[in-house]
Formats: sequence, C-alpha cells, structure tokens
Amino acid sequence: MCVGAPGVATPPDRARVWDLPTRIFHWALVVLVLGAFVSAKIGGNAMVWHGRLGLAILGLLAFRVAWGFVGSTYARFGQFVRGPAAIRAYLKGEWRGLGHNPLGALSVLALLGVLAAMAATGLFANDDIAFEGYLVPLVGGDLSGRITGIHHLLEKLLMLVVALHVGAIVFYARVKKHNLVKPMLTGWADGKPCESARGGGARAFAAAVLIALAAVWAASGALLPPPPPPPATEAPAF
Ligand code: HEM
Ligand code: HEM
Repeated sequence: MCVGAPGVATPPDRARVWDLPTRIFHWALVVLVLGAFVSAKIGGNAMVWHGRLGLAILGLLAFRVAWGFVGSTYARFGQFVRGPAAIRAYLKGEWRGLGHNPLGALSVLALLGVLAAMAATGLFANDDIAFEGYLVPLVGGDLSGRITGIHHLLEKLLMLVVALHVGAIVFYARVKKHNLVKPMLTGWADGKPCESARGGGARAFAAAVLIALAAVWAASGALLPPPPPPPATEAPAF
C-alpha cells in the first residue's frame, strides 16, 4: 500500500520533496550571497559586513554538507549525485524521479563548490585598505594578496554558475512547463504520497546546526593565538 510519510497528511497526487531546512537553506543562501556581493562592491566600512555575511554563508554551507548526509530523502547527496549513466538516461528522457535530476545535481555541486571556495579564500583575503579576512594572520601579507586574486577570479565563476542555475530554472518553467520554484517554496511536488521524503528529524537537524556553528567559530579566527602586544615605547630620556 502507498502511504505518505508518517504523521504527515498527504494529498493523493503530491509528495513532500524539500524539507523545511533545505528550503530555508536555499532562500537564506540567495539573500546572503546577494548581500555579500553588494557589500563587497560598496567596499570601505561595508567590508566588515562582507566578512560577516561570508562567514554566515560558510555556516550555511557546512550545514548543507552535513544535511546532505543526515537530512531527509531528497536532500541527501547519496540520493541525487549520480554517475554518467544516470545523466545519459536523463538526457534520453528516461529519468523518472523526484528531487534534483542527475544533471541538475552537477549544478548543485558546482554552486556549493564555488561558494565554499569563495568563503574559504575570503578568510585569507584583504582589501589593501583596512579590512582583512579572519585567518590572514595564518598566511601573511604576500600569500594573502595572491589568495585575494583567486577570490576575485571565483567571483566570475560564481556569476557564471548562478546565471546557468537561474537560466535552467527559467528554461524548465518556459520550455518544459515544469515549475521547480514552487516545490522549493512549499516543499511539495507532483508525485505519489509514498515517495514523500523521510528522515532528517530534530536530532539530525541539531547535529547539522552544531557542525555549522563549529565551522563558523573556527573560521572566525577563534582558534588563532592572540596577537602579540604592541612593542612598549621607551620613555624619552631627559
Ligand atoms: C545567489 C543565487 C542562488 C544560489 C547561490 C542558489 C543555489 C542553489 C543551490 C545550492 C541549490 C541546491 C539546493 C539544495 O539541494 O540544497 C539550489 C536549488 C534550487 N534553486 Fe537556487 N540559487 C540561487 C538563486 C535561485 C533563484 C533566484 C531561484 C528562483 C528563481 C532559484 C531556484 C532554485 C530551485 C527551484 C532549486 C531546486 C532545483 C531542483 O528542483 O533541482 N535559485 N539553488
Ligand atoms: C561565499 C562567500 C563570499 C562571496 C560570495 C564573496 C564575494 C566577493 C566579491 C564579489 C568580491 C569582489 C568585489 C569587487 O569586485 O570589488 C569580494 C571581495 C572581497 N572579499 Fe569576499 N566573498 C565571500 C566571502 C568572504 C569572506 C568570508 C571574507 C573574509 C572574511 C571575504 C573577504 C573579501 C575581501 C577582503 C575582499 C576585497 C578584495 C579586494 O578589495 O581586492 N569574502 N568578495
């Protein structure tokens, strides 16, 4: 018999696909990435906020990686990251499933990977004026300059993968008449109730949040030794 997820009232022709943490993760990520771009373009004093937003993005990414192992069915990497055979089958129109399709999964990995690289390089970057990433003391000025260059290169890559991502969503809506945004807002997609996502309960959520907090704490420089005190100025001898 086909029944929905335990405890969830399920309409006969719909399945619960995106759990609440995945949806909050996605829309929070969109807002924070936009904020990181705007604050970096403003520069100056806004760089303090750029650093904080970057740190929050890093926390979201750490949460999502953990959730990819302990979250509910369609949020798990093991469910949607597939090999070339599955991608070929999808391209031939033979894929029937819920959640990220095998090709879309590549764009999810690209988005997560580029953002993780941006957050990581940002920690060692500097703006040549007054702001530097929280872990710059670990690498020193020269290397920090080179890492800043990589942070800038990644900006172009991020714009490319986001443009492809949003382009694909629009293509699906306009050409394939398939609205992917609604499930990312409501959690529900067309499907059978028995296909509804399971797992990813409160304990899994708490564990993923703890991992995210630990990542933010370490990335904020909390583990670095305190900076040496400024050299004592000798009193002038009169
Ligand atoms: C800064 C911009 C954006 C970033 C970094 C981003 C990132 C992501 C990521 C990482 C996922 C995978 C979700 C997961 O499994 O955790 C995703 C999925 C998704 N995003 Fe975005 N996103 C952005 C903008 C948008 C916008 C503007 C829309 C809507 C117009 C959108 C709609 C979606 C949808 C519908 C999915 C699910 C796709 C599917 O069904 O396979 N995203 N996005
Ligand atoms: C995924 C997260 C991040 C995104 C999307 C991002 C995005 C950007 C962008 C677009 C720029 C270039 C602005 C321009 O063209 O002038 C930039 C510059 C910069 N970012 Fe990030 N950033 C992130 C994380 C971080 C973090 C965590 C830090 C530090 C804690 C950081 C520190 C910097 C610094 C110091 C610059 C200035 C570089 C310069 O002026 O040459 N970023 N970031």
